Amino acid sequence: MIELGILGLQVCALRDSEGSLMTDHSSDPKLSQDVHDLNQQGLSSWEAKATFWDELHGDEGNLFHQRLISPAVERLLDLQAGEHVLDIACGSGVMARRMAALGGLVTAVDFSAALIERALARQQPGMPPIQYDVVDATDTQGLIALGENAFDAITCTMAMMDMPTLSPMYRAVAQLLAPGGRFVFATMHPAFNSNNPVFMAEKADVGGELVDTLSLKITHYLDMPPVLGAGAPGEPNPHPYYHRSLQDLLSDAFDCGLVLDGLEEAAFPPEDHNDARLISWSNYHQIPPVMAGRLRLGPEQRGA
Ligand SMILES: C[S@@+](CC[C@H](N)C(=O)[O-])C[C@H]1O[C@@H](n2cnc3c(N)ncnc32)[C@H](O)[C@@H]1O
Repeated sequence: MIELGILGLQVCALRDSEGSLMTDHSSDPKLSQDVHDLNQQGLSSWEAKATFWDELHGDEGNLFHQRLISPAVERLLDLQAGEHVLDIACGSGVMARRMAALGGLVTAVDFSAALIERALARQQPGMPPIQYDVVDATDTQGLIALGENAFDAITCTMAMMDMPTLSPMYRAVAQLLAPGGRFVFATMHPAFNSNNPVFMAEKADVGGELVDTLSLKITHYLDMPPVLGAGAPGEPNPHPYYHRSLQDLLSDAFDCGLVLDGLEEAAFPPEDHNDARLISWSNYHQIPPVMAGRLRLGPEQRGA
C-alpha cells in the first residue's frame, strides 16, 4: 500500500517490487484490479469538479492553455482543414474547440460524463460541430471502436499525468491513426513540474540593487510515488497525479511502435511576468512547466 499524501488516501500496489510505476504491458487489454480502482478514483474526482473545471477554463482555456499548451500542441500538430482529429481526455473541450476552429473534423472523448455534458453545453449554433462521446482512455477497445485508421491526428492534452496507466491508450493510438498520422500530447514537464517541486525565491543585494532570483528544488525524478495534488488554485478536491520520468512516459509508446519526432518545452515569456505574485510559473521564464511531444507510427507499423 502506498499513501497518497495530503488526505492520507491509500491505494494498492501502484509500484512493482522494483519500485517502478506499474503499467500494463500485457497484450491483454483488461486492466489489473488495482489500476482499474485507481482509474475509478480519478473518475470520481473529475466528476465532482466538472463544474469548477469548466468555469475555470471557460470557452478558451486559462493562461496555461492559451500561452503554453495550445500554441505548442498546434505547432506540433500542424492541423490541416478537413483532417479528422480525435482529442482524448478532452475535459470541457478547450482543445477540441480550438482544433475545430482550425478546420479539423473533431471527435472528442473523456471518461467523465459530467465534463462531456459541459463541453456539449459550450457548443453554440454557428460553431463547427464536434462529436463528443464518453470513452475511458484506459479502455483500448472502447477507443478503437471510434474507428481503426480513421484519424489523421490524435491529441491528449494535460491528462496523461492523471492516468494510472498509458499503455492501453498508446495501443489504441497505434490502431486509430491513419497512415502518416500523428499523436500530439502535452503534459506537465516531467523534470520540473510533476515531481512536487519546491518553489524558491531569494532576494540579494547585487552591487546596490535588490535582485529577486527564482529557482526550483527537485528531490525526486526517476522514482516517485503518485501523490494527491491540489491542482489549480481553488479546486474543490485533490486528485491523484502520476509522475513519470521521460523514459517511463515514452517507453510504453515505443513498445507500441510509436516513435517521437517532435518536442517542445514551453515556459512563460517575460511579457507574462506577474508582479503581483512573485512565486508563480509566469515568472519562471527559463524553466518550462509544460512539455509537448509528437509521436508517429514507426516504419514497422507503417509496413515499410
Ligand atoms: C487536466 S484535465 C485536461 C482536460 C483537457 N484535455 C484540457 O486540456 O483542457 C484532465 C482530463 O483528463 C480526463 N481523464 C483522466 N483520466 C482519464 C481516463 N482514464 N479516460 C479519459 N479521460 C480521462 C479528466 O476527466 C479530465 O477531463
